[in-house]
Amino acid sequence: MNRFEHLLKPLRIKSMELSNRVVLPPITTMLANGDHSVSDANTAYMKRVAGSGAGLIITEVAAVHPDGIEGPGMLGIYDDRFISGLSSVVSEVHKQKHKVMVQIYHVGRESQYQLERGRAAAPSALAGIFKIAPREMNREDIGEVIHCFGQAAIRARAAGFDGVELHAAHGYLLMQFLSELSNHRLDEYGGNFRERSRFILEVIREVRSQVGPDYPISIRISAEEYAVGGYTIEDMLGIVHLFVEAGIDMIHTSFGTQASPGGMVCPTIEYQPGFNAQLAAQIKTVVDIPVIAVGRFTNLSAAEKTLARGDADLVAFGRQHLADPKFFWNALEGKEEATVECLACNQGCIERLYKGKGIRCAINPETGQELIYPERRSGKIRKVLVVGAGPAGLTAAFQAARLGHQVVLLEKEGNSGGQVRLAARAPYKDVYGRWIDKLTKTAIRAGVDIRLGQTADIDFIKKEAADVVIIATGARNIRPAIPGINSPHVIDAWQVLQGAAELTDHTVIIGGGLVGMETADYLREKRISNVVVVDTLLRSPVKKSNGHGYMLHRRLNEAGYQLWLETRIIKIETEQLTVEKAGEEKLLRPVRQVIFAAGSSPFNKLGYALEKENIPYHLIGDACRPRSILEAVEEGAHAAWSIQ
Ligand SMILES: Cc1cc2nc3c(=O)[nH]c(=O)nc-3n(C[C@H](O)[C@H](O)[C@H](O)COP(=O)(O)OP(=O)(O)OC[C@H]3O[C@@H](n4cnc5c(N)ncnc54)[C@H](O)[C@@H]3O)c2cc1C
Ligand SMILES: Cc1cc2nc3c(=O)[nH]c(=O)nc-3n(C[C@H](O)[C@H](O)[C@H](O)COP(=O)(O)O)c2cc1C
Repeated sequence: MNRFEHLLKPLRIKSMELSNRVVLPPITTMLANGDHSVSDANTAYMKRVAGSGAGLIITEVAAVHPDGIEGPGMLGIYDDRFISGLSSVVSEVHKQKHKVMVQIYHVGRESQYQLERGRAAAPSALAGIFKIAPREMNREDIGEVIHCFGQAAIRARAAGFDGVELHAAHGYLLMQFLSELSNHRLDEYGGNFRERSRFILEVIREVRSQVGPDYPISIRISAEEYAVGGYTIEDMLGIVHLFVEAGIDMIHTSFGTQASPGGMVCPTIEYQPGFNAQLAAQIKTVVDIPVIAVGRFTNLSAAEKTLARGDADLVAFGRQHLADPKFFWNALEGKEEATVECLACNQGCIERLYKGKGIRCAINPETGQELIYPERRSGKIRKVLVVGAGPAGLTAAFQAARLGHQVVLLEKEGNSGGQVRLAARAPYKDVYGRWIDKLTKTAIRAGVDIRLGQTADIDFIKKEAADVVIIATGARNIRPAIPGINSPHVIDAWQVLQGAAELTDHTVIIGGGLVGMETADYLREKRISNVVVVDTLLRSPVKKSNGHGYMLHRRLNEAGYQLWLETRIIKIETEQLTVEKAGEEKLLRPVRQVIFAAGSSPFNKLGYALEKENIPYHLIGDACRPRSILEAVEEGAHAAWSIQ
């Protein structure tokens, strides 16, 4: 019996025959041309991910109306001029013998771009996440948008797509009509939950009438709104059969909106793979068309179990495709352990999109950079010396070796990984350690000569006489200049996370950034009580709008930990701290231990020494400026790719 019997079973949906049950769900890349047409970067990205083996690929969302597009870099399907570009996407997938649907939508009120242009329209003039009210759609607007969905579906078919998916999830226009939080209409498009589904049903009927009976139409829903006052799965179970009656062939069961707490749409590391399959399972009880489950799937084994249990008919792997699209073939070849798991960090993907930047992946520098990613080995073999085996140095070393260069990587510690080893000690983050282990192994396999426990100094570098020197020596934790900071009960957060310090109740952590908050979370896991995190800032630097940040705040709050903002520590003494909070001096006691996590500074002694000797070098990662894994990996890759 095949280990992936259920996943590898073909599936026919109307005119579309899928070779397996693995789906790439829509992932907006923001790589489109300025006029919203498909760019070379879009096609190159699609060419790479289409090779993943997924039987069904659903493209990123494309807008059916010019006022329905979320912003620059996003795709349009509201005009015939888009058809030729879209057909190049189709052809990349068809070359792989797989099927492709295009997701179509209207953004409604959830676009700052449209709101600022005064073009945003929605069921009611109620503000959403951008706190600006859109214009209420009149009957004419409604009719026009319904018509545009139908026209977009005709274009999808003309471009060669095997089907269309209607985006009725995540708080966009179709869902805005459904939700009481965004639809207060008094006409026939408002009313109770069932009545509010009217707009979606009319869109479905219009699309069906335009594409004919045999063309597959999927609908992506947020099965549960996950918002106070929002609709629930029970509400959805009562209407989902209406979608089928109106002409839907497949239900793609997503969840939440961008306003849902905890980053539900792109669930963070705290969520278990497949946590959402239970919603798909409930939808399956009321319909007899295929249902897709999605949410934190990273490996085929978990997906196979979901199908074997009968919870869903297909399983979508979103961000896993960005981190390592080889997961499918690796599993089929019996080497699942070779797959690099998605960290669910959202840094390179959704968080960059929120900043209006094109897609990346924090741990896979190829993602979103397909046009500049060098495939071929270099014509000239160079001798490359990399100093520091954190994510920046490891990536630079692996990429240089992959391109055929001769690489030596020096690391002063007995282990590779740099600060990521500390990050991996925080609750839920062990996958960070697994990533570093894999990257290290991959680098060694590519031929990197990793020398652990060896500190590089200027004499060594001169003696080595490498053609290219890459400095990736990272950062170190700053010891803040506070009277009493050298007392025996004051320790470094890095030491704590290394497990090298004895912990005690009544602890104060200096610094409420990610390291301070994760150190607190580590203490929480060790059942340390009475912990206060202090920071001079007015607002927590770990934002609750970020899913992991939200979870961290919630866990620490539930553990009774306190976060004192706008607080400066004046003096550290045995058993007590003097602090200034909002202009007032206060005594904090008893304080048995103080942990500092007040930021880090670049560790780049070698760079200065190399400059003195006129030896050219690349400076990458935190050694340049402390930031995050995303920059460390990207700069590591770019340094290697630039070797001539
Ligand atoms: C607790 C914690 C949690 C974090 N969580 C996250 C997170 O969730 N997401 C995120 O993006 N970032 C996180 N970060 C930050 C992230 O880990 C760093 O931005 C990243 O590791 C920087 O990579 P790097 O390779 O530039 O430097 P580093 O990781 O600092 O690696 C530098 C390496 O160089 C070695 N080295 C230094 N000098 C020499 C020398 N002379 N010879 C040989 N070797 C030398 C060091 O020993 C070290 O191994 C976290 C950091 C910490 C401390
Ligand atoms: C960068 C990014 C862009 C996304 N764009 C879309 C989109 O265009 N349409 C959509 O329905 N969902 C979109 N999603 C949500 C994904 O399709 C998927 O539901 C989500 O990532 C959870 O699945 P995962 O845990 O497997 O990544 C996007 C997610 C990410 C990370």
